Amino acid sequence: MNRRTFLDFLGKGAMVASLAPNILRAQQLFFQEFKGIRPSDEDELKLAKGLDYDVIIKWGDPINSKDFFGFNNDYTAFLPFDAAQPNDGILWVNHEYVDPFFVSDYAGEGEKTKEQVKKEQYNVGGSILRIKKNNAGKWALVPNDPLNKRITGQTKIPFNWDQPIAGKKAAMGTLANCSGGITPWGTILTCEENYDIFYGERNFKDGSLIEKRAFLAWHKQFDNPPEHYGWVVEVDPRTGKAQKHVALGRCAHECATVKELPDGRLVVYSGDDSVNECLYKFVSSEPGSLSKGTLYVANVRLGKWMSLDRSESPILQKLFKDQTEVLVRLREAARFVGGTGLDRPEDIEIDPINGNVLVSLTNNTGRENWFGSILKIQEEGGDYTALTFKPERYLAGGKDTGFACPDNMAFDTAGNLWFTSDISGSLMHKEPYTEFKNNGLFLVPRTGPKEGQVIQVASAPSDAELTGPFFAPDGKTLFISVQHPGEYSKSMEELTSHWPDGGDTIPKSSVVAISGDTLEAIQGIS
Ligand code: FEO
Ligand code: CA
Ligand code: CA
Repeated sequence: MNRRTFLDFLGKGAMVASLAPNILRAQQLFFQEFKGIRPSDEDELKLAKGLDYDVIIKWGDPINSKDFFGFNNDYTAFLPFDAAQPNDGILWVNHEYVDPFFVSDYAGEGEKTKEQVKKEQYNVGGSILRIKKNNAGKWALVPNDPLNKRITGQTKIPFNWDQPIAGKKAAMGTLANCSGGITPWGTILTCEENYDIFYGERNFKDGSLIEKRAFLAWHKQFDNPPEHYGWVVEVDPRTGKAQKHVALGRCAHECATVKELPDGRLVVYSGDDSVNECLYKFVSSEPGSLSKGTLYVANVRLGKWMSLDRSESPILQKLFKDQTEVLVRLREAARFVGGTGLDRPEDIEIDPINGNVLVSLTNNTGRENWFGSILKIQEEGGDYTALTFKPERYLAGGKDTGFACPDNMAFDTAGNLWFTSDISGSLMHKEPYTEFKNNGLFLVPRTGPKEGQVIQVASAPSDAELTGPFFAPDGKTLFISVQHPGEYSKSMEELTSHWPDGGDTIPKSSVVAISGDTLEAIQGIS
């Protein structure tokens, strides 16, 4: 693949080439035999036959003389330096939140010290890592590489916006970095999801601080405004430079999925992962711009994208003082223009073969939607700037399909869909989730005898969730984060997981590289 095709594959959701007939036949034969795995409740990363994993990096591992790898790794993105060198490049990893029990030694009573909060701040954000396959063919960190850097809850990050946000032009740090996306120019979009657990949220009506949502209580030691968080943050992994994109709005962004239009303008899809919250798309008005354009919210009942441009909306003009306020208070504004509350919109992927937009809807226990589904959106006429679309259920979780609570998704090089599950730790192994056991990784084959079926291919260690699946452009490695193993441990003496080191070690979130004959056979890689 040349560089451009390669970036197409990464950032633009370009069509994947159809497989040669002989490869297709081999792939079909493989699927006749392939069974995947049964749900498991073991404390290990279990993989289907013919898949292996190596741990690339674990929480606390040093990356250079002063920095170490953060906590609760989530979204990953691998950017090889060159298509000709697929085994050497930059791995970006999100760090979503902290468990004070492991990170800051905070026992849960009284006020945290400033030092404890600082420790926690350091452990969120993201990591930039140079990784390379070694002589044994295993992916490994290149220690002390000049590219290795941390972005944390303390890094100063400017807003890409003309007006200040809550009086300032820059924020202290990024946090709640859940899923993300990549741009056509090879930078990372890291998304601030449950930002309110750190500094709380502001009441829209009277401007008071809603402290009870700040259960990590960082606001007690740092008076950073809640308005500085909940953004899509762009990071250049070559320099570490970051900016917060105000035009994409502020909410619990799960991800940001970019489609580049033939004229160079961008469409960015993003879900607000909270119960009864909305799905958004930004359409830029200038090539390559993430600041000039229009933000829309989906009305899924009508199949319409509703504009959040205040200058076009009498109701927004009446209730919000300017466009900045509309973007900062996106959830409220979305309701006034007719956005539809969904069952927790999480990850979004664009099907590389037919161009459909898939959206994971994890669940909504309040509506007794326990198992979630994947929503398919077909933009009118296949035009990503269209204002109308056809929504349809693509796949439903449940006992028949064998999965519950879909979350992150990824398409492989043959257009097969892979997705992870996120049954909340508080509900796992309880009704109605008992039979699903631990969270897992699932595959939906595109062709062959198992086309459209759901096959479980991995099972996570105890209490963990598999997040951030990302295929290397050659399809030979699937990078994935194993997040929060042992999260429900009551004490150091009663750890619920010892993954990945085993014995009586403490559990550590880690990024792994999955490879093997099965991974290649699934994609018809000869
Ligand atoms: Fe951080 Fe919506 O998962
Ligand atoms: Ca997620
Ligand atoms: Ca999730």
